Amino acid sequence: MKILIVGKGGREHALARALKDSPSHPEVYACPGSEGMAAAARPVPGIPDIAALIAWMRHEEVDLCVAGEEAWLARGLADACQAAGIPCFGPPMKGAQLESSKIHAKEFMTRHRVPTGGFEVVESAEACRAAIRAYPAVLKYNGLAAGKGVAVCTGPDMAEEFIDSVFTRKQFGEDRVFVEEFLEGKEVSVICAVSDGEALYFTPARDYKRLKENDEGPNTGGMGAVASRQLLPKETIERIQREVIDPTLRGLVEDDLNYRGFLYFGIILTREGPKVLEFNCRFGDPEAQAVLPLIEGDFAQFLLKAAKGEIDPGLIQFNEGWCITLVLATRDYPRSSGSGDPIHGLDAVTDGRVYHAGTRKIADGGFETNGGRVLAVSQTGATREEARDAAYADLAKISFDGAQFRTDIGTLHFE
Ligand code: GLY
Repeated sequence: MKILIVGKGGREHALARALKDSPSHPEVYACPGSEGMAAAARPVPGIPDIAALIAWMRHEEVDLCVAGEEAWLARGLADACQAAGIPCFGPPMKGAQLESSKIHAKEFMTRHRVPTGGFEVVESAEACRAAIRAYPAVLKYNGLAAGKGVAVCTGPDMAEEFIDSVFTRKQFGEDRVFVEEFLEGKEVSVICAVSDGEALYFTPARDYKRLKENDEGPNTGGMGAVASRQLLPKETIERIQREVIDPTLRGLVEDDLNYRGFLYFGIILTREGPKVLEFNCRFGDPEAQAVLPLIEGDFAQFLLKAAKGEIDPGLIQFNEGWCITLVLATRDYPRSSGSGDPIHGLDAVTDGRVYHAGTRKIADGGFETNGGRVLAVSQTGATREEARDAAYADLAKISFDGAQFRTDIGTLHFE
């Protein structure tokens, strides 16, 4: 079996490794992929657009396309695969709107009674100010904004800064904004494989979005993650299934979205119950790097069947233990990304997993930094402490000038 993954980051490296490790031994490619993930997926660089990608997959007789990044889906990757008769695990454009338009997602949730925070759509700075009734106030830009389209404002100064960036400077484009009810509680990411109204949920995970310990500092693309079947009590999982996942699946069918792909539920566990903060139409990053090492069985066959319309839970199993993922970022991340610093110690990590995101191969065969979040290490263990100690031991073997990482992944939120 030949599989093509679309994307190039740590999430795609984790997908590649999980697919490559499948007992059916598929040949795995990644477009564009990267040299850092080449041992798991052969890179396919230089493909300019979806038409060229389809032509390449036809020529190579690819059996399955797996969408890693959302941008290709929003541009119609799955629709083009369908037209070409190539099974694709990733939703068509209409389904991908659940991520590419936050207002569309909120309206979907309202229509299908999926619990979420109250919201009011606004189209001007004045209307936005008027819609803020209390602080903290959550302001969200509707479209894709590279993770910068959400502001949790503790006071009017922060709100004015966001209003200025959206309505005056039009930093993200010309789209609308909505003011959302501020919700309190622990957050959890639940990612499902969905196919025609059926779903299997992967091991629940929690990501650490802030740069610094104690969830301080600026928001990032994720500084680490924890995954385990033990992360949530059984009753909470059942409630998420009943109140969040089931009505969402019914909604996908009722709205005729032909949804086959990963569906990411960003959930907050409030006192009234679980509520959805966001949907994403792909796996989470860095959740993928923590969730996928816990999968056993034939992930490749599972995704191929799911892309053809059948969820077959017998094909994969979930390790009951823990996985901890730690991200190493460059000196000035997230203000700017860095490059050109040699990375030392990669070969010293022998039994763990190193997932490349922002790295580049250099002449001596080693790697240097090439992006804000450089790589992640993941380790599994029967207990959270075991996984955490092993992950931090691996992290200590790898270094580059100015490396930033958090020391409380897998500790904070477990007190
Ligand atoms: N970890 C959050 C996301 O993937 O969107």
